[in-house]
Amino acid sequence: MRTTDDALLPPADHAQSPRRVHAEVFGCQMNKLDAQIGLEALLRAGCVRAENIADADTVVFFTCAVRQHAEDRFFSNLGTYERWKARGPGRLVAVAGCVAEEHGAELLRQFPFVDLVCGTRHFHRLPELLARVRPAAPVVATGEAGVTYARRRSLDPRPAQAYVSVMRGCSLACAYCIVPSVRGPEVSRPPQEIRREIETLAAAGVKDVTLLGQTVNSYGRSLGAPHSLAALLASLAGIPGLARLRFVSSHPRFMDEALIDAMAALPNVCEGLHLPAQSGSNAVLKRMGRGYTAERYLEIIAACRARIPGFAPAGDFIVGFPGETEEDFRATEDLMRAVRYQNVFVFKYSPRPGTRAAALPDDVPAEVKQARNARLLALQREIALPLYRAEIGKTVEVLVEGPSRRSPARFTGRTRSGKIVLFPPVDAIGGLIGVRVEDATHLALYGTAASGDADAAR
Ligand code: 5AD
Ligand code: SF4
Repeated sequence: MRTTDDALLPPADHAQSPRRVHAEVFGCQMNKLDAQIGLEALLRAGCVRAENIADADTVVFFTCAVRQHAEDRFFSNLGTYERWKARGPGRLVAVAGCVAEEHGAELLRQFPFVDLVCGTRHFHRLPELLARVRPAAPVVATGEAGVTYARRRSLDPRPAQAYVSVMRGCSLACAYCIVPSVRGPEVSRPPQEIRREIETLAAAGVKDVTLLGQTVNSYGRSLGAPHSLAALLASLAGIPGLARLRFVSSHPRFMDEALIDAMAALPNVCEGLHLPAQSGSNAVLKRMGRGYTAERYLEIIAACRARIPGFAPAGDFIVGFPGETEEDFRATEDLMRAVRYQNVFVFKYSPRPGTRAAALPDDVPAEVKQARNARLLALQREIALPLYRAEIGKTVEVLVEGPSRRSPARFTGRTRSGKIVLFPPVDAIGGLIGVRVEDATHLALYGTAASGDADAAR
């Protein structure tokens, strides 16, 4: 395994007029980070970034295949680019990421105007691949690539936050999930490389780092003992300036004592934990191939809660998995009530090609999926409201992100556990401030910047 380096990139073939690249990004944080890494490679090779498609001569889609809905949204968007491409000579359309990996060269049959299909392990080669494109001669790069890549700087628009990939791929086989087939088996990055990357980010002012992996808490398995996420967190905890360290997403199967100890003992490891349960029914969990029961899941949550002050779990649930009965669904509601999540993501099951569940009848009617989805969201509202309202009157530590996208007159930021906080603008973007909480909904805290220190701020 080697690391990409400038020297490996052939010279860009557009020295006279640099390509103006517009990125369209779909999907999860992992994909957003891939997009940043791909864009960084393009900028290093002399391309310039075009925020708007009107200013671009190249569009790169970073795509998501996790649910049919995500894929459909992308395809309908892609379709509109045929005309855009026809209107300007030399315009290029590239499709990168999970949908590119899933469909490979097949994609060109349905969308013959696409110039480049770039799979999940090739996006750091975007400059080289784009340079190889010739009229009516598209390029396809999917499958194993045999490299890892280190990022030189953060392209995250938020100055103090960054995502760092610690592993790629997934070696589990949850029955519903397309990820192992589009991202390949789990490969962990060497800890020294991760540490160097985070030191560089922290020296440039990044205070809040999220380690990313499909099953981030299995980090180190592909490297062998003594590597583990707990050991990695301990080795990163002392980096100067790094106030907050988090990791997503964890799999219940790999939650061990050492990791809970690390979360409890290391002051900059945050107390939010994204631990998808997917269902509260043991029969459904078994068919999903998740490798734990609802009882085991609750045991993990109880152990975290007992040891980590301010522990704030978040979860994912799939409703309408094949064969899910009303009784199974009630077991999911019971699990949600027992855990009391800070926030949850709920997804309606959608069959994905090539997965084990795709062979099972998709037998929960769409209206039932929709109704269960709505019931879980309503239940979560009920659970989260008192948790958020309990913060009223406290002063919480907030990392300031900047103007809120939804209501630009307000600033937004996050607490250590990941709660969204809205407050009047302050002159401290990228800084840690105390905010006195005056109001709350089930999704956000509202307050005013406080002078003086934050309380325990969890
Ligand atoms: N259908 C619905 N939701 C899915 N997820 C993954 N695959 C599917 C699918 N086929 C959800 C899981 C996962 C999240 C990222 O997406 O809840 O945790
Ligand atoms: Fe992320 Fe999975 Fe979507 Fe790929 S398919 S972008 S890994 S959520």
